[in-house]
Amino acid sequence: MTNWKEVDQNVRDWIMEAGKTIRDSFQDELNIKTKSNRNDLVTNMDEGTERFFIEKIRSTYKDHKIMGEEGFGDELSDLSGVTWIIDPIDGTMNFVHQQRNFAISIGIYDESQGVLGYIYDVVHDELYHAEKGRGAYMNDVKLPALNDVPVEDSIIALNAQWMTTNKRIDPEVLAPLVQKVRGTRSYGSAAIEMAYIAAGRLDAYISMRLAPWDFAAGKILIEEVGGVVTDLEGNDLNPLNKSSLFVGKPGLHGRILNDYLKN
Ligand code: IPD
Ligand code: CA
Ligand code: CA
Ligand code: CA
Repeated sequence: MTNWKEVDQNVRDWIMEAGKTIRDSFQDELNIKTKSNRNDLVTNMDEGTERFFIEKIRSTYKDHKIMGEEGFGDELSDLSGVTWIIDPIDGTMNFVHQQRNFAISIGIYDESQGVLGYIYDVVHDELYHAEKGRGAYMNDVKLPALNDVPVEDSIIALNAQWMTTNKRIDPEVLAPLVQKVRGTRSYGSAAIEMAYIAAGRLDAYISMRLAPWDFAAGKILIEEVGGVVTDLEGNDLNPLNKSSLFVGKPGLHGRILNDYLKN
C-alpha cells in the first residue's frame, strides 16, 4: 500500500529543494543545447533537476516508475502501478531568456488515475498542488470551485501559432473565438497556464500539441476544482501520449467546443 501522505511530504520537500537550486543558479552560466529545432532548448538545469528527482524517487520508492521529459526515466508502455510524470522545467525558453514564468511540474498516477499533482512556479514561489478527491491548493490555501463564465467575458490562453497555417487547426476556426473573448494571453509554460486556470486567473487554455509531462499535473489540479480537460476534439487525454489540449471552466469548455472548435 502506498503511503500517499508520506509521498506528498517528500515531493514537496524535493520540489522546494530543486526550486532553490534553480534560483541559486541564476548567476551561473547556463549550458544550453537544442533538441528538435533551434528553438527547442534544454539546459544543464533541466537535466540536473530531472536527475535530482529521479535519484530521490528511485532511492525512496523502488517499485515506482518514472516518465521524464529529458529521458532519464523509464521507457513506459503502460501506466500500471505508481508512475511519476515529470517536467523538470516547463517553460525552458522563459527560463533561459527571462528567468521567470517557468515551473516544475510533477503528476503522480496510480493505475492510470491521477492522484497527486504539483506545479511550482519557482520565481513567484507559488506551489499549486492537488490531491484527488481532496481539492486543489495554492500555497496551501484551498482554491474555490470554478464558476462558469460567458465566452465574451473570458480570458483564454493560447500562443500565436493559431494564426499560422498549421496541420492541427485552421486559423479560420479560432479567429471567431479570438474575436469574441475578452482577451487572450500567452505565458509560454503550459503548466503555469493550467495552474492559472485552476486558480481562476484564466478561463480556458488551448494548445495544439503537448506531451504528457506538460499536462500530467495540471489535469489533476484542474479537475479538482471542477474544470474540464480534453483534447481539441473533446476526447479524454491519455497521460501516456502526446496530444492537443483544451482546458476550460465548466460550461465554458462545452460552449467553446461546440460553438467554435467543432465547426
Ligand atoms: C513547453 C511549454 C510551452 C508549450 C510547449 C512545451 P518545455 O514545455 O510548456 O508553453 O507551448 O509546447 O513544449 O519544453 O519548456 O518544457
Ligand atoms: Ca522541452
Ligand atoms: Ca514542458
Ligand atoms: Ca521541460
